[in-house]
Amino acid sequence: MTKPEPTDVEQKLTSIDLIVSKSDEKGNITYVNPIFIKISGYSQASLLEQPHAILRHPDMPKVIFKYLWENIKEGRDVVAYVKNLCADGSFYWVLATVKMAKNPDGSFRNYMSTRRAITENAKAQISELYGHLLEIEKSEGIEASEAAFKAFIEDNGLTESNAFNTFMKNLNK
Ligand SMILES: Cc1cc2nc3c(=O)[nH]c(=O)nc-3n(C[C@H](O)[C@H](O)[C@H](O)COP(=O)(O)O)c2cc1C
Repeated sequence: MTKPEPTDVEQKLTSIDLIVSKSDEKGNITYVNPIFIKISGYSQASLLEQPHAILRHPDMPKVIFKYLWENIKEGRDVVAYVKNLCADGSFYWVLATVKMAKNPDGSFRNYMSTRRAITENAKAQISELYGHLLEIEKSEGIEASEAAFKAFIEDNGLTESNAFNTFMKNLNK
């Protein structure tokens, strides 16, 4: 599928919108709720079995998805801001919580992402941070942007092991 050309049109979520999807182990979509379909502008049929990267926006730094996968694969929840690309090239921001669900026997069941609207404050701060990380990625590569991201988290006084999730949640208050 060819990716739409990104525009500067923003799709706004209301405070009660909850965008849900589930995936297999590779991140291929196995379930989407009606609001996911409505906001993304894709039909259900064109989303199912497609990789979640169908929504990937070029403004998103790679390091965020690297961090996401490193953690969810190990069963650790991740809370992260994501800018997503819609079928018509418009975009929307969400605060996503991504979790691994397991079967009663402990085997992998699916990954699930629940996404909510983000505040204007969070949007302003996170756009600046992601823009900065993206620039570093383009000029120096992903290792440099990972180092810059960790330094940013530490500069914000967050040293505990789930610093990333805490930082992301606090920003949306
Ligand atoms: C449950 C789940 C939900 C995801 N949701 C999104 C999403 O909304 N937007 C997105 O760009 N990537 C999402 N991803 C991450 C993608 O799998 C992928 O890592 C990302 O789009 C980067 O793609 P790329 O490595 O092909 O550039 C999700 C992954 C999982 C497991």
